[in-house]
Amino acid sequence: MNWDSLDWSRLDRLRARFLAGGVAEEPYWQSAADLAAYDFTYGERIGWKWDSLLGELRRRAWPRPPARPWRVLDWGCGSGVAGRRVVRHLGADHVAELQLWDHSPKAMDFARSEAERAFPGLRVSHADPDGTPDLVVASHVVNELGPGDLARLEALFARAPAVLWLEPGTHAVSRTVQAWRDRLVAGGARVIAPCTHHAACGLLVPGRERDWCHQFAVPPPGVHADRNWVRFAQRAGVDLRSLPYACLVIDRAAVPPTVPGLARVIGRPEIFKPYARVLSCEESGATTLTLPQRSLGPLVKQIERARGPLVYRWTRADGAVTAGECDPALAAPGLDSPAAPGDA
Ligand SMILES: C[S@@+](CC[C@H](N)C(=O)[O-])C[C@H]1O[C@@H](n2cnc3c(N)ncnc32)[C@H](O)[C@@H]1O
Repeated sequence: MNWDSLDWSRLDRLRARFLAGGVAEEPYWQSAADLAAYDFTYGERIGWKWDSLLGELRRRAWPRPPARPWRVLDWGCGSGVAGRRVVRHLGADHVAELQLWDHSPKAMDFARSEAERAFPGLRVSHADPDGTPDLVVASHVVNELGPGDLARLEALFARAPAVLWLEPGTHAVSRTVQAWRDRLVAGGARVIAPCTHHAACGLLVPGRERDWCHQFAVPPPGVHADRNWVRFAQRAGVDLRSLPYACLVIDRAAVPPTVPGLARVIGRPEIFKPYARVLSCEESGATTLTLPQRSLGPLVKQIERARGPLVYRWTRADGAVTAGECDPALAAPGLDSPAAPGDA
């Protein structure tokens, strides 16, 4: 597939389906050509979000090399972009099998052949959606599921040793992720990202209904100037510069975080002339913080320039922030941003 062979009319049909939203009662993939067009465009854009999340996980050295290779299940695989990104992150040698599940057999077939092509020798299979893999991967799927499948997926997350879940960072879907996160933590799950703590979600409290837990991925350099991607963005009605996502990474075997007192900045910081305003989530809850430019200019600059997750330890005096230190796991030498551009 390349831009010249891309069948734009297939994308238009898919776009209509995505815009209509709602539960996908029937598979909407009509052919392998639909999946190829999706994989090359929408799927690749989702892949950039995965690159961002997996870039953070690499900095956090997650996962530790498993004692034995993992069985990885990509649930609602579509063209399989998420599963392939995750296999690349883990290293194919650490994957015993990539299992694929989608209610569309065409999707499973397509994802399987792409994975076999990308990782020769990797065992790839159609999955038992109710099995018990070592790691469940789910991507951009929950808003297509009815109540029965939502319960099924949540039950799978609850029993899986590890979960990597990424969704569009919309208000509604992000708050679904937050609610599942709280229930999974209550059941003993350890969160690797996005939370820096295991207290109840700070955005699920009265007064925070308008907020939602989301991050922004960084697209590859040059994409905005690429006439093909620009044409895709216009036709699909997406903004190439804005890649919001909600995520949840769980590892039941993980040890508690080694750096206590960290806070994650939610969404986009707002930068004004006299100060910056950030929504900060930490163990004690979610708070809106004001960072004065006069006393914290370099910190505000760092936050403004950052091209990745913002995780800080705040120093406070009388409730006001007097300093902020970037999470050492995300601070790379020689960078003035918490995550390197093009990290993946
Ligand atoms: C927007 S696509 C996302 C595909 C892929 N995970 C990605 O991130 O690119 C949603 C996928 O969920 C699948 N899906 C929808 N309802 C499903 C269900 N009840 N059970 C399994 N898969 C389902 C669709 O067939 C489609 O492949």
